[in-house]
Amino acid sequence: MSLVVFPFKTEDPDVVLTNLRIAASHAAVSKVLAIGFEEESTFAAIQESRRDIARHTSTPVDLILQDRIGDLRPGKGDGMNTGLRYLLSETDSDRIHFYDADITSFGPEWITQAEIAADRGYDAVRHFFPRSSTDAMITWMITRTGFALLWPSTELPRIEQPLGGELLFTRSVAEALVADDRVQAQSNWGIDTLYTFATVQSGFSVYETYVEQGKAHALYGGLTDLKTMLVECFAAIQALRGETVGESVNHEVEATAPVPPSITEKVGYDIEATLRMPGQRWNDRQVELLDSFPEAVRTGVLENRHSATFAFMDEEAWADTYSVLLESFEPGDDDWEELLFKLWVIRVLNYTTTRALRGYEHSQRYLRATISDYTERAVL
Ligand code: LAC
Repeated sequence: MSLVVFPFKTEDPDVVLTNLRIAASHAAVSKVLAIGFEEESTFAAIQESRRDIARHTSTPVDLILQDRIGDLRPGKGDGMNTGLRYLLSETDSDRIHFYDADITSFGPEWITQAEIAADRGYDAVRHFFPRSSTDAMITWMITRTGFALLWPSTELPRIEQPLGGELLFTRSVAEALVADDRVQAQSNWGIDTLYTFATVQSGFSVYETYVEQGKAHALYGGLTDLKTMLVECFAAIQALRGETVGESVNHEVEATAPVPPSITEKVGYDIEATLRMPGQRWNDRQVELLDSFPEAVRTGVLENRHSATFAFMDEEAWADTYSVLLESFEPGDDDWEELLFKLWVIRVLNYTTTRALRGYEHSQRYLRATISDYTERAVL
């Protein structure tokens, strides 16, 4: 039997309660656990309704606050690691599922699909979804790029959505993750990277199950909303760069289906707000830090102080830029973080205007081909 965990911050309580009810009603689920970041309104709403859900479904619904486990910014990593520890210390369940609490397209089939793959013997099951051509820009430009450049012949660059938070782990995977100090230290947005990395490095088998209807979530504002996530996801990869990973992992990806217009026609971020960003918040130190980058990148980036300039940041320039960042970036240094953010925004604008503009199919082919090309040009 399985434990289903929903880490949450402040979300629409109706959405969260619906998802808790769906999980509690599932035949494979023996317990549902909601893990809050702090005691706020969503926490209170769950507290009020959880016994009622348990009564109607005959499945207990527990509610706790996340523990302070790691040593980086307290965030999603502490929440998920609290869930793994709860599985091991409070239950004898042999599987744990994680789902974001705010998914409006969540349904029982998400749990069923993962259970079927686990029944077939997979140690880890990852849900993946169709995403709009301008969504997933950290996934493609940071995480998949880093995995491709650093561990080209492993399964890592072949994981569809390495930042996905919808997962199933068997109890043995949970034990390995709890025993791994690197994973337990990763209290922030870097947790998804660490879970993906550590399961593959440990040789656990991975099945990726396709959820056709997609994961419904709101349009990001300008890309600044994602700055913290960007920095934490990049820093997580950078910290792993000396690690060795074996090549033989059993990894299977489920076949996908035609993607609905709700996804192919969606714009993932506010382009107008984003265009102005690389021109803002400059200082002398950022200009100095640019000295370590190839001349064409340095000149192109600096031009943004006068007008938006991104035609130069193609996939080759991005791989060169990324390699310098792997060597020199300093997490926690405001100027490095701002520079990483500007470089990434410039890369995303280049991709949006040269590729996403040409349509959904073209952009997906391009992104995949780029990751595959990167695996051929190993940097380190
Ligand atoms: C990603 C974030 C932006 O996957 O959702 O890139």
